[in-house]
Amino acid sequence: MSDDYDPWYQWLRHSRHGDDAALQQIVQGEVVEYVNRLLDAISWRSDMTLLDVGTGEGAVAFRAIERVGSALHAVFTDISPKLLRYAKDKALQTGVAEQCSFLLRSADALTDIPSGSIDVVTSRAALAYVSNKSGALDEFFRVLKPGGQISIAEPIFQDEVLELVFATDWLARHAEAGSSPLPLLLRWRAAQWPDTLEKLQVNALMNYSERDLWKLFDACGFVGLHMELHFDMRAVPAISWESFLRSSPHPLSPPAGVILAERFSPGESACIEAILRPVIEAGNSKATVRLAYLSATKPEFQLNR
Ligand SMILES: C[S@@+](CC[C@H](N)C(=O)[O-])C[C@H]1O[C@@H](n2cnc3c(N)ncnc32)[C@H](O)[C@@H]1O
Repeated sequence: MSDDYDPWYQWLRHSRHGDDAALQQIVQGEVVEYVNRLLDAISWRSDMTLLDVGTGEGAVAFRAIERVGSALHAVFTDISPKLLRYAKDKALQTGVAEQCSFLLRSADALTDIPSGSIDVVTSRAALAYVSNKSGALDEFFRVLKPGGQISIAEPIFQDEVLELVFATDWLARHAEAGSSPLPLLLRWRAAQWPDTLEKLQVNALMNYSERDLWKLFDACGFVGLHMELHFDMRAVPAISWESFLRSSPHPLSPPAGVILAERFSPGESACIEAILRPVIEAGNSKATVRLAYLSATKPEFQLNR
């Protein structure tokens, strides 16, 4: 692994689609759809200052610039130097660099962004990775002007992961699996997702529900909360086995090929491949994306709580 290795960059630019060009295009189309929903929740004025937290490639901020215009100032923040560099290059290439600034900051420590200086905070699929979510929300609240707006969209994995936890637990108590491939497939899933309640509880990306997000926003002092929970079932497109081996379902998971090579014997890998490969290459499965969209406002005046 090179010194320059950055898991966030690696996932967004490569492992999300396993370097399959057709899949990359489909994913980008879906992201535009999610970003538009998130931006629709804001009442825009042309001369606002936007802070996009965990900006990644800048999908939210660049789309906001396209929609709002040249008077919008956008602050891109992320913990990945490589992604910030990527977004900066893109701003230069697309001629919008003058209205953009870039800051390497964690969501829960937005130092150097003055209190009450931001009109709109956005964040898509980034708060999810922050362990200290209430600390991050305190920072979003602090930097917003009174009356400032926030809109986020975060994945909800908890229910799906609980199904794996319960299935694994059931299997452990009914060990007479015989020649069933189920234990092998559960081990395979467990390499990418928590398979016990203990592991789930400490996994920042998966240990919260949409109700938890609502409570955190309310406790932080935001008002006018509005939440929409979207479940979108998608057909999973066919990709080659090689692209699948380069892919991973989220940035914290190793690619499928690394898991097969490092955690399974050659015989077990061959068995998993025999089951999964026809499904991956036929593309006739489906997946449900669960996203919570939450928007709110910082009160104009301090409320008595
Ligand atoms: C799944 S990507 C989403 C990127 C982008 N928001 C989008 O909509 O395409 C998650 C992003 O969160 C960033 N991230 C992870 N932990 C973070 C933290 N503690 N503070 C700020 N950003 C973080 C990663 O670097 C990555 O860019």
